[in-house]
Amino acid sequence: MSTDTAPRVLMCPPTHFAVDYEINPWMAGQLGSADASRATRQWQELHALVSDVATVELIDPMSGLPDMVFTANAGLIYRGRAVPSHFRHAERAGEEPHFTRWFAERDFDVTSLDIEFEGAGDALFDRAASRLWFGHGHRSDARAATALQAWLGDEVDVVPLRLVDPRFYHLDTCLCPLAGGQLMYFPAAFDAQANAAIEARVPAELRIAVGEADAMAFACNAVNLGETVIVNRASDTLEKQLARHGYRLRATPLDEFLKAGGSAKCLTLRLDEPGLRTAA
Ligand code: ARG
Repeated sequence: MSTDTAPRVLMCPPTHFAVDYEINPWMAGQLGSADASRATRQWQELHALVSDVATVELIDPMSGLPDMVFTANAGLIYRGRAVPSHFRHAERAGEEPHFTRWFAERDFDVTSLDIEFEGAGDALFDRAASRLWFGHGHRSDARAATALQAWLGDEVDVVPLRLVDPRFYHLDTCLCPLAGGQLMYFPAAFDAQANAAIEARVPAELRIAVGEADAMAFACNAVNLGETVIVNRASDTLEKQLARHGYRLRATPLDEFLKAGGSAKCLTLRLDEPGLRTAA
């Protein structure tokens, strides 16, 4: 899809993708195990599905930066402004200048934070309210909430959520705000206070709590554009539940990327945030 009103999404070809180090539990025991040609095919399938509903832009991959393919961690975008990520792990720090330059060259107004913050991996806009869900506890520093609130201004409410399960180390691995205002998430990845914060803001009928098997298949790591929900895999139960809310599931295998702890949503970055609030 390529029209002026189509959503814009950034992806990075997996030319240099590999599991070369271990910075999350999914990578443990996977060093050197990614199959490059299989990863390329899986990425191309995802690219094709996203291209059906969005305009995809690409950033050049860089050798020596195997995780650069996970563009969700490029930064956080809001109305033509960008906060590039400032990674917790040295292994990913080399990505920062490339993403920062890409944003600047495309006229995003760039503000850098000197606090650990992993971009749209940990910061997700709600689609029904003017709200940013912010995950911390593993990668992003809790104190980034204050900096983000100042950057966004009063019109957006930043809601910090503490992540407690190391397998779900980024917010986008366990929570996905959907176009119609629903929240698909894995409650056990959050502490009690975070669960209470979610329940206080999202009515029960809009909360789609997924079970552990779906969470482990990265079902919450979904690319949602309008009524389309693109994931690695989801159970029939979850697919039916999403269908009842008006969403069409598109599953595409991304297991090569799961070896690095990422899946569909991690491989994309929405560039036209805050996305249109189209009811599903
Ligand atoms: N190996 C990468 C890391 O640990 C995976 C990043 C996945 N990205 C995401 N938005 N969850 O940083």
